[in-house]
Amino acid sequence: MRPGSWRGSRSRLGPLGLLSVLGALLLGGCAQHPLSTLNPAGPVARMELGLMGEGLWIMVGVFAVVATLILIVLFRFMQRPGEPHSTPPQIEGDNRLELLWTIVPIIILATLLIPTIRTTYVLGAEQPGGLQVDVVGHQFWWEFDYPQLGIATADGMHIPVGRKVNIHLTSADVIHSFWVPRLAGKQAAIPGHTGFLWLEASQAGIYDGECAEFCGTSHSRMHFRVVAQTPAAFQAWVQQMTHPVDTPTTALAREGQHLFFVTYGCNGCHTIDGTSANGTVGPNLTNFHNKGMIVADLFANTPQNVATWLQDPPAIMPGMVMPDFHLSKGQIAALVAYLEGLH
Ligand code: CUA
Repeated sequence: MRPGSWRGSRSRLGPLGLLSVLGALLLGGCAQHPLSTLNPAGPVARMELGLMGEGLWIMVGVFAVVATLILIVLFRFMQRPGEPHSTPPQIEGDNRLELLWTIVPIIILATLLIPTIRTTYVLGAEQPGGLQVDVVGHQFWWEFDYPQLGIATADGMHIPVGRKVNIHLTSADVIHSFWVPRLAGKQAAIPGHTGFLWLEASQAGIYDGECAEFCGTSHSRMHFRVVAQTPAAFQAWVQQMTHPVDTPTTALAREGQHLFFVTYGCNGCHTIDGTSANGTVGPNLTNFHNKGMIVADLFANTPQNVATWLQDPPAIMPGMVMPDFHLSKGQIAALVAYLEGLH
């Protein structure tokens, strides 16, 4: 790089250019981003946004008062041309002032502290009658277990609209962080420890979630989604997920079943309820066909995408436990037929 070329390019931007870049950044924040805490979709996220707002307005007030005082002092006591140099009267040890600038910050901090403590207690309390979901972070996917319903799934957490959901949170390996910005603030998933948060969705919809703690090579791909459904639609999903396991109906699917249970021992890592597959290292594949998304919410569940994934998992999710089994095209087709046959 030519010396000084950075300076050259900076000056070419000009004040107008700089202003439009700043404006674009500022307005960009107004978009209805799926990961925005400023666009809450449930009571928990609204409470948290309210707290942010209270803090912001108090700080804006403090800034306005301090800035006004600085401006007044600056202009009122400015040395005019021709005025002689003089030292202003010294006020060191003025008890009234000392008291004032001790008490005022205490009052300001207390007005922040009281609503913060109140909200913290409300958000940390198990909600009576809520739906329980046990969430486990893995490198690099999320497990969702519903102990009251006997369902275990991955990649997508289904919840009924208008019902409080008590989430018990832990990790199977390293520290992850569970975050659905439009529904609730982030909470760490720590191995050997069960954390808690609750959330609720006010309207049906899909709310994006992310792992918010660096947890390894594929941290940035550790997505999930919360699918908030009307109570009837949620009930239908529960029915689907608890449907007894289907036996393969085609020769291809039967070949896939053999590969899954015998040739490659996929059952050592994955669970399919109602079969001998009860591994807990990888995602639970019960009723696989009904999963909307696969691979940490990266792909829609289509035969083509499942085949792409099976081709070489570490290429898509570096650092993940699932190895590349160097499956042939025929073996992949058989496994896809078996998995997609699990309704
Ligand atoms: Cu899990 Cu980052």
